[in-house]
Amino acid sequence: MAKKTNHQPPARSGRFSAGAAREANAYTASIGFDHRLAAHDITGSIAHARMLHHVGLLTKSEATSIVRGLNAIGRKIAAGRFRWKRELEDVHMNIEAELTRRVPAGAKLHTGRSRNEQVALDTRLWLRDEICSLANELHLLQLALVELGEKYRDVIIPGYTHLQRAQPVLLAHHLLAYVEMFERDYERLLDCLVRVNVCPLGSGAIAGSTLPLDREFVARELGFVDARHRPVLTQNSMDAVADRDFVVEFCAAAALLAVHQSRLCEDLALWSTVEFGFIRIGDAYTTGSSLMPQKKNPDIAELTRGKAGRVIGNLVSVLTMLKGLPLTYNSDMQEDKERLFDTVDTARSSVCILTAMLHHVDVNRRACAAAASDPGLLATDLADWLVQKGMPFRQAHHVVGELVALAETKGRPLNKLTPAELRKVDKALTPAALRVFDLGAAMQRRHGIGSPSVKEVRRQLDRWHKSLRH
Ligand code: ARG
Repeated sequence: MAKKTNHQPPARSGRFSAGAAREANAYTASIGFDHRLAAHDITGSIAHARMLHHVGLLTKSEATSIVRGLNAIGRKIAAGRFRWKRELEDVHMNIEAELTRRVPAGAKLHTGRSRNEQVALDTRLWLRDEICSLANELHLLQLALVELGEKYRDVIIPGYTHLQRAQPVLLAHHLLAYVEMFERDYERLLDCLVRVNVCPLGSGAIAGSTLPLDREFVARELGFVDARHRPVLTQNSMDAVADRDFVVEFCAAAALLAVHQSRLCEDLALWSTVEFGFIRIGDAYTTGSSLMPQKKNPDIAELTRGKAGRVIGNLVSVLTMLKGLPLTYNSDMQEDKERLFDTVDTARSSVCILTAMLHHVDVNRRACAAAASDPGLLATDLADWLVQKGMPFRQAHHVVGELVALAETKGRPLNKLTPAELRKVDKALTPAALRVFDLGAAMQRRHGIGSPSVKEVRRQLDRWHKSLRH
């Protein structure tokens, strides 16, 4: 069964008389996916080699030949000309084996280092870059929302609760609600980055090293520094190789981001129906039906909504993977990679495609105006008007409720009741009450911070524009 292979992985030498069974290797090897960490693995190894030279464990020429060899391998990988060997299990051993094949000093690279810390290091380095890219892309999504709000800054739509018409809002106000949510997602990503950006090198397999390694040197080399340029190191070798809470944190931040995007997409999908008709999504960002010629489906919005499910699933996978593990490293932890990669890929592609789609959204002013002209949206304003005349709010709520019921029986809009009908419901309802239904004036009345008045929304749009365009 167990065949000896030509590419005996370094991790098996000595102790093992035979190579892994082919099917065992097929099951355990991670090279099929962790080759994505290659560039960061090389960066980490170069820093480690420099540190080994710095502390006298490598000569200058050994360190130089290792760095040269690693850079050459990096170029070959980037050009797509590197042949990954599954027998060598993972990205770490593939690169190290190739280095050793090229330069004899390569056999010294793993001095004072374990794959357990190496994989933690590579994942941190890789995720650090991805978080920065995603955060920048998220700002562009926010900017697209702000720009759409600005383009249609005078458009009023009904706001909904329970998916029933509630009160009028500016369309820009609705869009800015998502800008706020995405800003918190952005902050969560940057906050998570603080805990990703910690150097685990020097932790060994579990218990550090007996060799005179310089942890701070290698941390500095790799940019694991705080705002004052002081090196940031993990403080417990067992914790450093055993935990993946930084992966969980990122997946959690991404799951919440995906949920926010999903809700935005649900709004956009609804708004693009004939029933709402508030927006039109550009043809290039929709698809047709194979059978019904009239159809135009908001696929991107639907898929972004659907993909939130897998991002949430990835978070649950990683948490479940970790929950029963004894300290420290266990092979189960190799399972974090595909979930993390998928989370990053899904988050980044969703943010980017949504941004592009928003640039191709047109607002149907007429449909919005028709929906916003529903006087029922201002029933609460009428109750507030009665309150200002001295009526307790609960009574005012009741009075306006009766008025709504009366309008319904008469089959007329709320603002088309006669003075006599108004007076019959309550004598406080003078004809002046009907002035409440002037929508333009109603929008000016909502003036508090965070309210949808024209002035306040203008202020918020400007604020966002300035901060996102910096
Ligand atoms: N491929 C492994 C992973 O992704 C690397 C660490 C392996 N360590 C070990 N002791 N087998 O987790």
